[in-house]
Amino acid sequence: MVKLAPSILAADFANLGNDILQAEMAGADYLHIDVMDGAFVPSISFGVPIIQAIRPVSKLFFDVHLMVEEPIRYIDDFVKAGADLITVHAEACRHLNRTLAKIKENGIKACVSLNPTTPLSALEYVLNDVDMILLMSVNPGFGGQSFLPFMFEKISDLKNMALRRNCNIDIEVDGGISASNVEQVIKAGANVIVAGTAVFKGDINKNIADFRKIFATY
Ligand code: DX5
Ligand code: ZN
Repeated sequence: MVKLAPSILAADFANLGNDILQAEMAGADYLHIDVMDGAFVPSISFGVPIIQAIRPVSKLFFDVHLMVEEPIRYIDDFVKAGADLITVHAEACRHLNRTLAKIKENGIKACVSLNPTTPLSALEYVLNDVDMILLMSVNPGFGGQSFLPFMFEKISDLKNMALRRNCNIDIEVDGGISASNVEQVIKAGANVIVAGTAVFKGDINKNIADFRKIFATY
């Protein structure tokens, strides 16, 4: 089963609660929450108080993507705010294993993300400690960018790596995904799809229905 994780980065922040409810009612599986610190990535998005504020509004699984330097400093805060899963970037953690242990200690799911050009070998010693891998298909920092075509090969390489190791992890892909390229992303091996612009810009109901129609055949 392929899951849809709408990214609220592209939602209307003046009506955030409503946009989230609409996405939930239209059939979103996860809510993808992009936290940017202005250091690991060029822009600043939002942090703990926003997650705290939206937690009572939604029953969705909160998939919190930390684009933050040394995220180990904030894991407890994001868990308290309501994260169900936390993603950290391999490139942003001096002690990745310790950071993942801290997430797991809190009883929630852990995920590691790689920027587009970071080799899969960075996952060699963490694959068995995570629930999901997030492959960035744009350079993180902004919504609305174009999917990088070399990512198809990277996704299928990761899928094969997981199969070879008998490792039953989810593969999430994030950046530049729309109803027109999602099929190729799924075929390459992804089973959790992040979409910001393609869900929240325009008619949220219709956008999610378009994705679901495609997902139904997998
Ligand atoms: C990029 C973020 C993405 C982004 C996706 O740094 O991690 O989650 O919001 O947005 P779209 O789907 O518009 O590329
Ligand atoms: Zn993201």
